[in-house]
Amino acid sequence: MSYQIIIKPSNHTFTVEPGETILAAALRQGFSLPYGCRNGSCGACKGKIIQGIVNYGRYNQETLTDTEKQHGLALFCCAQPLSDLIIESREVDAIKDIKIRIMPSRVHKLERVAPDVMIIHLKLPANERLQFLPGQYIDILLKDGKRRSFSLANAPHDDEFLQIHARNYPGGVFSEHVFSHMKERDILRFEGPLGSFILRNNSVDIPIIFLASGTGFAPVKSILEHIFYTERSHEHTRKMTLYWGVRTKADLYLEELAKEWAQQHKNFTFIPVLSDALPADNWTGRTGLVHQAVLQDFESLENYQVYACGSPLMIKAAYQDFTQLRNLPADNFFSDIFAPSASSPAL
Ligand code: FES
Repeated sequence: MSYQIIIKPSNHTFTVEPGETILAAALRQGFSLPYGCRNGSCGACKGKIIQGIVNYGRYNQETLTDTEKQHGLALFCCAQPLSDLIIESREVDAIKDIKIRIMPSRVHKLERVAPDVMIIHLKLPANERLQFLPGQYIDILLKDGKRRSFSLANAPHDDEFLQIHARNYPGGVFSEHVFSHMKERDILRFEGPLGSFILRNNSVDIPIIFLASGTGFAPVKSILEHIFYTERSHEHTRKMTLYWGVRTKADLYLEELAKEWAQQHKNFTFIPVLSDALPADNWTGRTGLVHQAVLQDFESLENYQVYACGSPLMIKAAYQDFTQLRNLPADNFFSDIFAPSASSPAL
């Protein structure tokens, strides 16, 4: 049977289904309790059971001592409720709550999904997970002390591997390394999570327009997969449209995935926009600049939020035109700019 959990001090309430841990159920319903390894080794998820009883699950005995259990503590990544519970836990709902870490990772898989896009799957050391908010990025730390920033493309719940989308651009030392020399099992050190391009004011009443150019798709994928995952637990769903602008059809490197989302979620619409379609593309869809496609489709953006991610030119034009021509409130425009050599994600 399922059990009801109340988190103190927030009074947030969620339900744990049979076989689920307290942490897994909380994350599924959009409540970010702190965690690290998710397997009973690190203690980051330790919290108090104020009322009710649990099955403590399998965990490392050194991580949770018998004395701590007597004092009501449990590891929420392992514990399953045996009754309704009141628990005490911090909630990670702001960037300041998340610990920034430097970690090693191993290249688990390299997927060349477009002529100049590589998806890199990174595996963390055993017993480690990275807690982050969807939309954040990591800095890959290079041997010469430089850094390259990449948005995380996986959603936090799907964290067995971290996923980044690297674009090959002329003169990019790291991207050239990725496309010419990087191999599976290579070690990469990174620092993260970083950045504030995250979902704000998660109210179902405000529809969202996502605007991505090129690999600006990566953080949008993370945010969307997070929303799809958590909205399964909500009665109401939020209306969302993704405009993904690229040059040619080959650059729509995860087009099938975006189409699947549209088929599976009636609150989600996907609009690909090509700026330089090739004759061989036989493209019959939208063309031109991606932000102009939004201008064509909406007379007013007064009651929308816009999340834009990609090239500086696209973001600047979108901000100006949406706020000046379509009454988008400036506070409802969130962006993450592609800047190859600065500290913003390299998209
Ligand atoms: S998350 Fe590491 S012990 Fe629970």
